[in-house]
Amino acid sequence: MKDSNSKPWRPFTANCCSVEDQAVFGNFSRCRPSRSDFSKNIAPLPSFRRLSFSSLSRSSSTRINEDLAQSFGPDLLDFQLSELRAITQNFSSHFLLGEGGFGTVHKGYVDDNLRAGLKAQAVAVKLLDIEGLQGHREWLAEVIFLGQLRHPNLVKLIGYCCEDEERLLVYEFMPRGSLENHLFKRLSVALPWGTRLKIAMGAAKGLAFLHGAEKPVIYRDFKTSNVLLDSDFNAKLSDFGLATMGPEGSNTHVTTRVMGTYGYAAPEYVSTGHLTTKSDIYSFGVVLLELLTGRRAMDKTRPKTEQNLVDWAKPYLTSSRRLRCVIDPRLAGQYSVKGAKEIALLALQCVSLNPKDRPKMPAIIETLEGLQHLRDMAVTSGQWPASPKASRSVVSAAKEKRENGAKIYWKNSPVTHSAKS
Ligand SMILES: Nc1ncnc2c1ncn2[C@@H]1O[C@H](COP(=O)(O)OP(=O)(O)OP(=O)(O)O)[C@@H](O)[C@H]1O
Ligand SMILES: [Mg+2]
Repeated sequence: MKDSNSKPWRPFTANCCSVEDQAVFGNFSRCRPSRSDFSKNIAPLPSFRRLSFSSLSRSSSTRINEDLAQSFGPDLLDFQLSELRAITQNFSSHFLLGEGGFGTVHKGYVDDNLRAGLKAQAVAVKLLDIEGLQGHREWLAEVIFLGQLRHPNLVKLIGYCCEDEERLLVYEFMPRGSLENHLFKRLSVALPWGTRLKIAMGAAKGLAFLHGAEKPVIYRDFKTSNVLLDSDFNAKLSDFGLATMGPEGSNTHVTTRVMGTYGYAAPEYVSTGHLTTKSDIYSFGVVLLELLTGRRAMDKTRPKTEQNLVDWAKPYLTSSRRLRCVIDPRLAGQYSVKGAKEIALLALQCVSLNPKDRPKMPAIIETLEGLQHLRDMAVTSGQWPASPKASRSVVSAAKEKRENGAKIYWKNSPVTHSAKS
């Protein structure tokens, strides 16, 4: 659990319903995937004539419930707080799955005893500690985005609850939790190389789907804790509270709201607020580096020069000899040498300082596809063990998470507009 001191600083947001809201949520039916996606696995999107983010932000909980129910119909369930209390034993710590910056997540179970016709299934209930309008906006963004977007690599939102000041979200339960837990929790079994590739591919497909929509969706908070895993290690993206509709043409989005998480956010985004799908590509590159090295994007427990993964790893990525020194020692040489080299180069491209040099998601998927069947294991080709210098320092995973998961916020209230890149 995160301690209360690590809570992100929240800015005072005088103008919560800025122009951005109109552009982002005002006409949600524009957020349509391409035709080819439709034919595969995408549920048709409802029409959102009544659902305006700006007006919903200001509405009473009764009005919000009415609007959401009318817009989503039976696709998304509006739960009562009492129902969610019942299925989580009053949000008991025994049912706690984890805790993020916005509250705790508890396991529950729903079936048709709770609601007639409800499919029996385990669920994850996120109890948002919303602290005012800012948290409400993120809750609403999550409902609106995930309520409409359906894809095998996006976590499924089953329902929501909006009662007085309470805001909750009900997701499908992901039995293997987050990628973060598997990569960095000391007690977890090391993820095999093939599983890491499978996860990278699943997450890439989720991002490609978002970016490939007619009006691209920028995910904005791509990181290992938001990549959830089902029982077969299929990856699904969660947490759309920060997602935003992308700019069209040469416009880039300038935002002054929450930005993402230290270590994952693209440098141009941190310094200027300019937001494009290429910001997500940067974060994807950081996650590739985490998969490769077993190190966190930002690790304050390490010496200064090693704290930022991208800065530390870059010099190692272009030489096979140096690369083997930074491969996750928990893999114990059970990784494809060629595959690791390709991932390193791909990651390097993704974290290019110039966003234009970063690849697009389809190219990333193509590269990853080519690596799935490589079997040239380092341990059998004499490339392991590598230098002991690279071994992971032994630190408490809980301490790491507490110190490294900080979100980035802008200090000023939001003034948002589109700008030419
Ligand atoms: N649908 C789910 N199924 C199973 N476990 C989940 C689910 N959603 C979240 N969790 C667990 O709860 C933890 C907390 O999730 P949450 O999204 O609230 O925070 P976070 O991603 O760790 O941090 P942040 O607030 O910075 O996004 C996750 O790391 C994961 O272990
Ligand atoms: Mg999360």
